[in-house]
Parts: sequence; structure tokens; C-alpha cells
Amino acid sequence: KQTKNDVYYTVTAKSGTTDFKDGGSTETLGYNGTYLGPVIKIRRGQTVHIKEVNDLNENTTFHWHGAIIDGKADGGLHDPIKPGKTKNISFKVQQPAATLWFHPHPSGQTAKQVYKGLAGLIYVSDNTSKNLKIPKNYGVDDFPLVVQDRTFDSKNQFNYKKDYNSDGTLGENILVNGTLNPYINVTTKFVRLRLLNGSNARNYTFKLSNNQKMYQIAGDGSFLSKPDPIKKLTLAPAQRAEVLVDTSSIPDGESLELVAGGIPVVTLKMQTRTDNIKRMPKSLLKMATAKAGTHDVDKQTLTLSGMSKMVEINGKQFNPDRIDIHTKVRQQQVWTVKNKKQMMNMSHPFHLHGVQFRILSINGHKPPLNETGYMDTVNLKPGDSVKLTFKFEEKGLYMYHCHNLEHEQNGMMGQIMVE
Ligand code: C2O
Ligand code: CU
Ligand code: CU
Repeated sequence: KQTKNDVYYTVTAKSGTTDFKDGGSTETLGYNGTYLGPVIKIRRGQTVHIKEVNDLNENTTFHWHGAIIDGKADGGLHDPIKPGKTKNISFKVQQPAATLWFHPHPSGQTAKQVYKGLAGLIYVSDNTSKNLKIPKNYGVDDFPLVVQDRTFDSKNQFNYKKDYNSDGTLGENILVNGTLNPYINVTTKFVRLRLLNGSNARNYTFKLSNNQKMYQIAGDGSFLSKPDPIKKLTLAPAQRAEVLVDTSSIPDGESLELVAGGIPVVTLKMQTRTDNIKRMPKSLLKMATAKAGTHDVDKQTLTLSGMSKMVEINGKQFNPDRIDIHTKVRQQQVWTVKNKKQMMNMSHPFHLHGVQFRILSINGHKPPLNETGYMDTVNLKPGDSVKLTFKFEEKGLYMYHCHNLEHEQNGMMGQIMVE
């Protein structure tokens, strides 16, 4: 249902079965379907009303990852919806065009529920996205690619318990939008791919099989100031990127692959193509360089450390009864997030709810172009120190955590109260 300024969605978390391979469907979870979920399309300025329905036989929450949203609607683990229950939320879209996503966040069950299929995309549009001359025809030249890794056992079943790894559950196969060996029929010169790393723990470095450049136009939470020509693109769990691929050098009938670690992720099959756009826009989004501000800044330092069941932030594991940080709404924040260098080194994708931040510096240096826009998840390699700035626009209780979902579940998480 949609009126001029209001949009209504019902999202039901439910269980079902999915046939990924021929011969043997497996138990999965999905939103409104049996695996993954719908694309929720919302526009800046609109009021969004979502009816969240839990048809599972266990608690869940609906977390709007990347949304600037009040703590009560954010769907953190303090707000479980019991089996058979419904929760209604409303919020006004107050952020730039971006590809966000949603997934569950219940205490102790997040990693398993995501692995079994609970995840969906949110497309935020605004005047910039409307006016830019970029591909925007859903399913024609603008494609979502939810990239996940999953293992099938000998009976083609998902077996989260068996595949569980306390440092991040990895799968042997790549699924895109829940499909093995996916392909796209390309009928236009430029193709826009909206990538979400929807995996529990795997990092992907994407490339085109012929090594040609892609043009990154957006990160997690906004367009970049201008297209960034890149040969490879790394996404940590929960991160998004939008890239444009110029297919003009590939003859009809041939194909181009998006690969990660030498493995094909998706095949682009060239058909006779039309010139959907003439050329790449020179600029995308007007954005001032991120600045920390000099006075009245709330500063925090968070140090991520440990591995497996011993993961910590500032030497502590998550405690639902402890508020780790108190702050005020619209207070300028500068956070330094560090990944402590240790014997056994892991990267940690750090994510903060309820805001979009800008990166001020990575190890004292300015961020590369593709990390200068708004983001909600930043990947910290061992020893990295990243400075972020942002404000909470809404009040409430929010989480921050490592988005390696097994680390999140093992306690690499904290809570911030915004008043
Ligand atoms: Cu997508 Cu608390 O995260
Ligand atoms: Cu989130
Ligand atoms: Cu981690």
C-alpha cells in the first residue's frame, strides 16, 4: 500500500523449505517467502510503516541495518518479538539514497537465523538518485546481488550446527540471491550491481574476470562524491557497494564474470544491448570532506580483541544488563576503533546501529575514495585504528558490534544509550 507520503509493508519471518540444488530441499527461513526477503523500497521524506510478524517458533527481531531510526524501532536484541507476535513500527526516512538491509538480531540466535535465510534489502531513494543518469531499472539494468556462502551436506541440507565455527561460519558454495551459479542477461551497455555481503563471516574481494575496471558509485549508506574506478573491491560481512559495469567491450553472446577469490559469483551474459546511459556521471553526491569538529565532541575509544569465545570490546564481553556508553542525541561523536594486534590475528567488521558515519582516518591516513561516503560497517584488519565521526539523530538504545555474526554472538558487542 502506498500513498504520497506514507508507505506500508508487512514483513513476516517464517520457516519453510528451499530447493537450492536438484534433489533435496532443506529447511530455511525467509521473510514473506522461504529464503531471503522482499526488497523494501522507501523514499527520503516518506513515513514508513512496517508490520513485523514473527511466524517462527522462536524469538526474533527485525533490525533495519543502516537505517537512521529510533532505538525503539531499530530491532536490537533488547526488543525480542515472541513466536506468533507482531510489532508495528513507523519511521520517517531521513537519510540519503542507499542500499540498506534488514535481518534478525535476537539474543543468541542471530547467526543461525541469518544463515538459514533471514535477510532482505532496503532501497532508499531521494532526489539525487532520481536525477542522476545511472541505471535504475530494477531487474533490467539495476540488480541486487546478495552474496552468501553456504555448505550443503550430502543430502543437500544446511547444517548450521555442524558447520558452526566460533570464529565465523563459512560455507563452501556461493549463493547469490539464494541461487547457485546465477547469471544475468545483460541487455544494456551499463549494468548497476548492488552488492551486499550477506555472509556470516566471509570477506569477498570482487573482480571482473577480464580484469577490467568497475566503477563504484555507492558504499553502505550513500553515493560516493564521484565514481571510483577500481579493479577490485573488498566487502566484509554486512557491507554494501554499488558498482557500474561498462559492458561495451564485450561482444554479443559472450560473457563476463564477477569473481571472488577466483570463483565465479555471477555471470553476465551479453545480449544485444541498448545504450541505457551514454556515459558515467562525473559527479554523484555533493559531500563536504568529513571533519571532526574541534569543540563539544564526545570521544570514545573502542578496542576489539580476542578470538573465538574470548572476543571482547574494551576487555569486556557483552552484557545485556550493562549500558556501555551514554550520550546525547545530535551530539557530535568521534570514535577511535582499534583492532588490537595479537598472536592470532583476525579482521573485525565493526558496525554501529542507528547512524551512518564518515571515516576521518585509517591508521592516520585519509580514507580511500570508496570509503569517504556514509558507512555503517568498517572492516578493521589486525592492528588497524580507524577514526569515525557521526551524530545520533534519534534517541534510544543501540548496539555496536563485530558483524562477524559468530563474534557478535560470542559477545563482541556493546550497547549505547542515546538520550
Ligand atoms: Cu547488521 Cu547489529 O547488525
Ligand atoms: Cu545494524
Ligand atoms: Cu570479529
